[in-house]
Amino acid sequence: MAKSALSFVCQNCGAAYNRWQGKCESCGEWNTLVEEDVTGATTMPVSIRSKRKGRLFALESLTGKSHEAPRLPSGMAELDRVTGGGFVRGSVLLVGGDPGIGKSTLLTQATSLLARAGHRAVYISGEEAVAQVRLRAERLGLADAPVQLAAETSVEDIVSTLSEGAVPRLIVIDSIQTMWTDTVESAPGTVTQVRASAQALIRFAKKTGAAIILVGHVTKDGQIAGPRVVEHMVDAVLSFEGEGSQQFRILRAVKNRFGPTDEIGVFEMTGLGLREIGTPRRAVVGWDPSRLSMVLAVLEAHCGVKLSGHDVYLNVAGGLRIQEPAADLAAAAALVSSLVNAPLPTDAVYFGEISLSGAVRPVAQTSARLKEAAKLGFGRAVLPESARGEVGGDAGLSLATVAGLTSLVADIAARGTPRANRDGNRVGNREARDPPVEKNATPARFRRQEG
Ligand code: TYD
Ligand code: MG
Repeated sequence: MAKSALSFVCQNCGAAYNRWQGKCESCGEWNTLVEEDVTGATTMPVSIRSKRKGRLFALESLTGKSHEAPRLPSGMAELDRVTGGGFVRGSVLLVGGDPGIGKSTLLTQATSLLARAGHRAVYISGEEAVAQVRLRAERLGLADAPVQLAAETSVEDIVSTLSEGAVPRLIVIDSIQTMWTDTVESAPGTVTQVRASAQALIRFAKKTGAAIILVGHVTKDGQIAGPRVVEHMVDAVLSFEGEGSQQFRILRAVKNRFGPTDEIGVFEMTGLGLREIGTPRRAVVGWDPSRLSMVLAVLEAHCGVKLSGHDVYLNVAGGLRIQEPAADLAAAAALVSSLVNAPLPTDAVYFGEISLSGAVRPVAQTSARLKEAAKLGFGRAVLPESARGEVGGDAGLSLATVAGLTSLVADIAARGTPRANRDGNRVGNREARDPPVEKNATPARFRRQEG
């Protein structure tokens, strides 16, 4: 029998020390060190290591038949969007979140959909009894889904059981903190146990090709207990978040070896489980995303321009980054132009800051901007009404001034033709229930600035 090895292990980051100390030098947390028996967990006794002759394995070339790495979509679009298109074979995913946020609900729904689609899907609960899990499934209207269910906590038993029969396509372990393995002596829930259990399950996933989801709890400070240890080991980490009092939940990827980390999934917790809420995409390159959100909100609140159901992509050409608020008016003009399908004049420049009330405010250096625009060959400029006084002499451009966003929108909308939105409805015509632009504003007019 292996000699027992005691060690002080940080419950936050997994760093091990041979003496107790108040502060973990690795992660800086206080009072996180707990004495654990790490026999077999991190080190194999030297006596065993040196006697064992290594097994010979075949070396492969880079070319050759790669094993299929197909994804298995769950059928929940919001979940699939966050994983990058579905669960990858042989991958292990950690889903973290506060207790009660809806992790078990989400994963019960996902396993049920897969099971209904004919895949072998297994749900192992270490926290709830079989009857409790069944009750939840009943409430979700999923009791008929052929999910294979068990309430177990021994990793060895789980691995042995799941090695029988067809390889499961998806295995949910709810939660990793309740799992324990014989190979280490520490108590369940300790970092050493969590790490060793995760290791054994990851090995099983890689060997068989089953996709495994580990549920992880979050502690008060927002960390999954023993999180860094498991986060490093798994292929993807998803975080399920929301205010307990509100029904909306957000799923986002914190790490993803097989997909993006900038996608979020939005759900609503209802009496019948989690309902998916599709979110339009907002992608910004070269500008401040929060300014874009502000401009979108002002357009909607004051001008009746409804972009909330549309994807919005904003790109500043040439790889530049714009930092100043003068670009507000240009961004607003581009957004409205795109929505109502009215190309803006190619020889026009737009600048001005948009306030929360929808007013267009002056920006610094009006004359210098106009001069530069004329030099670059622009023929007209749209600028804040209040900046008119600053324009000295002949600006060399036709000038149009706008006092508020409403007149800019009306001007662009008057020239536009309706365009179909994502659902195929024509937007901007009379039949549409929500016209993108309200028709109560007077257009801004270009007029030649008199010298
Ligand atoms: P649960 O999935 O058990 O959370 P977690 O596994 O993250 O701890 O969900 C817990 C909460 O969700 C619980 O307070 C009840 C609520 N809930 C609903 O509102 N509707 C439902 O259909 C279900 C199943 C749960
Ligand atoms: Mg749960």
